[in-house]
Amino acid sequence: MALVIITASSPLVQNQTLVSSSQIFELGFFTPKGSAKQYIGIWYKKLTPSRVVWVANRDKPLGHTDQSASLIIGEDGNLKLLDGRQNTVWSPNVMAKSNYSEALLSDFGNFVLQDRNANIMWESFDEPTDTLLPNMKIGVNVKTGKKLNLTSWKGEDDPSFGSFVMGVTSEKPPQLFTWNGSSPYWRSGQWEKTKFIGIPTMTNTYYDIRQDNIQGTSYFYLNNYNNSIFGYTFISSEGSVKLAFWANGWLTSWKAPAPTNPCEIYGVCGPFGFCNPFGSPMCRCLKGFKPRSDEEWNRGNWTRGCLREMELNCQKPASAAASTTVEKDMFWQMRQIKLPDSADYLLIDNVEGCQSQCLENCSCLAFSYVNAIGCMAWSKDLLDTQQFSTDGEDLFIRLVDASVGADTGRFRKMTIPRLLRSEEPLRETSWKEQMKEDDASKLIVYDFDSIRLATDNFNVENKLGQGGFGPVYKGKLNNGKEIAAKRLSSSSGQGIAEFKNEILLISKLQHRNLVRLLGFCIEGEEKILVYEYLPNKSLDTFLFDSREKAKLSWGVRFHIIQGVARGLLYLHRDSCLRVIHRDLKVSNILLDEKMNPKISDFGLSRMFEGTQVLVNTHKVVGTFGYMSPEYAMGGIFSEKSDVYSFGVLLLEIISGKKNTSLDYPGQHLNLVAYAWHLWCEGRGLDLIDEAIADAFSVLEVTRCIQLGLLCTQDHAADRPNILAVVLMLNGESILSQPKQPTYTFSRLLAHEVQSQEGSIRSMNTITITTVEGR
Ligand SMILES: *[C@@H]1O[C@H](CO)[C@@H](O)[C@H](O)[C@H]1NC(C)=O
Ligand SMILES: *[C@@H]1O[C@H](CO)[C@@H](O)[C@H](O)[C@H]1NC(C)=O
Repeated sequence: MALVIITASSPLVQNQTLVSSSQIFELGFFTPKGSAKQYIGIWYKKLTPSRVVWVANRDKPLGHTDQSASLIIGEDGNLKLLDGRQNTVWSPNVMAKSNYSEALLSDFGNFVLQDRNANIMWESFDEPTDTLLPNMKIGVNVKTGKKLNLTSWKGEDDPSFGSFVMGVTSEKPPQLFTWNGSSPYWRSGQWEKTKFIGIPTMTNTYYDIRQDNIQGTSYFYLNNYNNSIFGYTFISSEGSVKLAFWANGWLTSWKAPAPTNPCEIYGVCGPFGFCNPFGSPMCRCLKGFKPRSDEEWNRGNWTRGCLREMELNCQKPASAAASTTVEKDMFWQMRQIKLPDSADYLLIDNVEGCQSQCLENCSCLAFSYVNAIGCMAWSKDLLDTQQFSTDGEDLFIRLVDASVGADTGRFRKMTIPRLLRSEEPLRETSWKEQMKEDDASKLIVYDFDSIRLATDNFNVENKLGQGGFGPVYKGKLNNGKEIAAKRLSSSSGQGIAEFKNEILLISKLQHRNLVRLLGFCIEGEEKILVYEYLPNKSLDTFLFDSREKAKLSWGVRFHIIQGVARGLLYLHRDSCLRVIHRDLKVSNILLDEKMNPKISDFGLSRMFEGTQVLVNTHKVVGTFGYMSPEYAMGGIFSEKSDVYSFGVLLLEIISGKKNTSLDYPGQHLNLVAYAWHLWCEGRGLDLIDEAIADAFSVLEVTRCIQLGLLCTQDHAADRPNILAVVLMLNGESILSQPKQPTYTFSRLLAHEVQSQEGSIRSMNTITITTVEGR
């Protein structure tokens, strides 16, 4: 029997429940699976599998066999849970007594005790257990000292208090934290008005922090999406925070710490260390610091962190300081950083002021100026710092001049800040050097012998891949610089002058999402292009490897997708050349040490085909599975053929599967067809790679799948151009509905490729190069 209200005359007894007015939530007695104890709890009434979102008597369970317990309103107007012998087991112990009160459950899942005039005397939202519902809050009130935290269950079938707690800090700006007992376990990073610095991909479409400086409160809320979506955040008994949504089942869309990122465990690299999940080793000391114990550090025990290598100038005794002139400390800039814990907030509204305030105070070890926050400075150990591949903030670390020394390449991304140039004339030389290194407009002409030496005579052990235009080798030049040398197969048929001209044009294409051409070598028949070497090789080495693919969290994948789109936008629209890539595929997406994507092999098809417009040519450069129908069938190419390839790439990155792998359920010949099928059935999210299925953004993935389908439309006119693609990715433009593709092209070729993969196949008017790898 279901009650809608508990009053003095109608208590809740076993086998009864209290339901909310629209039947969304239900409250009653329950026994967790595998347990012999009974509790009063709240759960979703209609969504199965159901989930308990609140428990009253966590630490005071009723016996499993107690069949005459009841939840009553006592004579004093208080709520009471009575056991079979009429002992009070649990009560909110409301002080303000009322001679008439009633208890009911709201459609938001709030269990409320109110008086005759509907004044709330007590509510379950004020005593959260492990789950945060929309319309509920956790956080702190600095003035009253009151904290609202989530506390995990002890185990999956044990609602009693576990060891993990999730809450909001009272500092400015606030951070989300989870603690294991009293030790920090995970940290969101500082709140930056619309997102947390440490969770850049999750903006406040999911949640919000609301601060009231007068009341002294900082509260964290889950977005209620106008109450149109069911969702909750909770902390599991193993300490992970999860955000779940209802979509024909509970879908975890985000998890922290991320199981794929060991850097998210609080302070894993110790004081003055910083963590890069793609680094090897993953922990390093900050610039100017060294491991406290080399022996421990080399064993991979980073907990004790790092020490300063050289005393700061400001720490030196006054007499020593006087003997040297202008020896101020300086700041070392780190980019894309999850800022350390324990920042002090300074009331300064410009970056110069922030810097000089820090410089003048010797206790200040680092500062950061974030537009949405303001000035932050650190005077305690720099702890829990992480290197991101995308987003993140600039951190400036105080160092003595000499400890910076010569740049070691590994730190190339971190340059001496421009801010200090005027104050520190001594910096001039290193600035010039820095500029020289950054200026790649000068192409280097290498002689063949130096490339031969660098690659150990094109030793097969140094081979990075085999592309349509020739093999690529890793090399190390005399000066220690690593390179990737592409030895072009000599079929280009171009004269030397034309070739050089093409190379010069290609070298002008410079963008952070394009592989940088360093130089070239022409000697006799040999034509070699020399590129920057990227340590993480190509996307396919991660994406299609069952062990490596979990490292590509959704955040990293989305970052890669956005980078490739921006690189392509540059090629199509913004560069001086307007280049169509014509062979965009996963193996042509290279990754730097921070997993920034860089498109390779651009401009090469142009080089090989000259500048002629290929209409109905029989020679098609490209890779099966990525070619648009009009290009593969007729050789007609346009920007929209690249967009098609980008669409295939998008679906491959989401699913972790190759378009042509031919193992799709049902009659689907390729990934595009399979994705279309799932989309039509409203099961688009089933496409997601299993390796990341427990942590992704529903909104972003849904948007990317729809975009992937739009980009792979049969007719070029139905596909968006690359500018529209970039806007749609950023959520700045609305996506239209894709039409059903017909797949004549795929059907035509599927059986041919099955038997002839890896070879060059001629069919009537088409030549298709099906070379896998680079
Ligand atoms: C790491 O080093 C610390 C400090 O020396 C030590 O207490 C701890 O047990 C070590 N941890 C491991 C896993 O070896
Ligand atoms: C220097 O910084 C420390 C730590 O933030 C602070 O306590 C102290 O008041 C500062 N001193 C001055 C002179 O601003």
